[in-house]
Amino acid sequence: MSYRQEIAAGHLKPDAAQEAVAARFEALASRLSPANGASALGLLFGARREPPRGLYVHGEVGRGKTLLMDLFFAEAPVSPKKRIHFHAFMQEVHARLHAARQSNADALAPVARAIAATARLLCLDEMQVTDIADAMIIGRLFEALLAAGTVIVTTSNLAPDDLYKDGLNRQLFLPFIALIKNRFEVVSLDGGTDYRLGRVKSHETFHVPLGPGADAAVQDLWRRLTDTARGEPLEIDVLGRKLHVPQAAHGCARFSFAELCEKPLGPPDYLALAHNFRTVFVERIPALKASQRNEAKRFVLLIDTLYDARVRLVASSARQPEGIYPAGDHRFEFGRTVSVRSQGRSGDGVQR
Ligand SMILES: Nc1ncnc2c1ncn2[C@@H]1O[C@H](COP(=O)(O)OP(=O)(O)O)[C@@H](O)[C@H]1O
Ligand SMILES: [Mg+2]
Repeated sequence: MSYRQEIAAGHLKPDAAQEAVAARFEALASRLSPANGASALGLLFGARREPPRGLYVHGEVGRGKTLLMDLFFAEAPVSPKKRIHFHAFMQEVHARLHAARQSNADALAPVARAIAATARLLCLDEMQVTDIADAMIIGRLFEALLAAGTVIVTTSNLAPDDLYKDGLNRQLFLPFIALIKNRFEVVSLDGGTDYRLGRVKSHETFHVPLGPGADAAVQDLWRRLTDTARGEPLEIDVLGRKLHVPQAAHGCARFSFAELCEKPLGPPDYLALAHNFRTVFVERIPALKASQRNEAKRFVLLIDTLYDARVRLVASSARQPEGIYPAGDHRFEFGRTVSVRSQGRSGDGVQR
């Protein structure tokens, strides 16, 4: 069904911002249609049609980017076509490159041709470049795919200029941003409604005490915010190191307290999280002993950084925020920061 039909059938709520983007998708679908442009005569003489420009759709999470792309993909009159999550796609690219390098010094061109042969239309969901290995090849990869006639459509939570922000060797990535701006139609989808957050109430985000009840509640929130049971692992380059995100999906990242605050992470790591995600899950926050000064410090820093960036926190905790670090040096500051910032935002997140 098309977007219009979904609205007419009452499956979706009318949304003016989505409608405008749906029209762009429709225009692309009609340009892809074989009935359009290539006349029989043209085909006879082998006239090559310029493939239409692809779309780069960006906007906050939950606005309907994936929904619109999937509706378009289902109907797009092209074959072969391929729809894949951006990270899964890049994994496939690296695997193909690895295999091709056994026999070929410049593996990228043949790999791009092989991919183009499987997809005249390539829809990539949730483009987000966090890894230097991806950042360094993606420009040439896209260039080669476009040259082979593949039409690319991508969704992203980030505007092109914000991709791979603060990434290592970012100047080598800038040509890719230029390519997106020159060769794609860049479309912003920013209606005020986050359809996914509407399923989550602000008082649901801090779960005390630890146990099966909190685990189930956090899992339920994760599912509502991401539409998946489990996210994908992700590496973020931070000043040349890797920050490992155990699970990432739909703008959410999920960690245990131990993974975030018992390891020697610092401000750049938490900033990278705040840049890359809209919601961070921190599970199993223990009651901290007085001696756990470093863990407490990191936790306050994490909460502060997320708060400043207006990133939502979902947590399960042994204690209410004021009780997490009752005995330590900085306990007053700790209790105030954590309690105000972990649950204090009214009307949390629905509007950004
Ligand atoms: N107009 C709408 N009416 C009802 N539900 C919607 C509408 N737009 C999106 N949704 C739902 O909201 C959720 C978030 O949409 P999604 O396309 O995943 O957002 P995004 O990709 O921008 O993060 C999905 O479950 C989607 O089906
Ligand atoms: Mg999406």
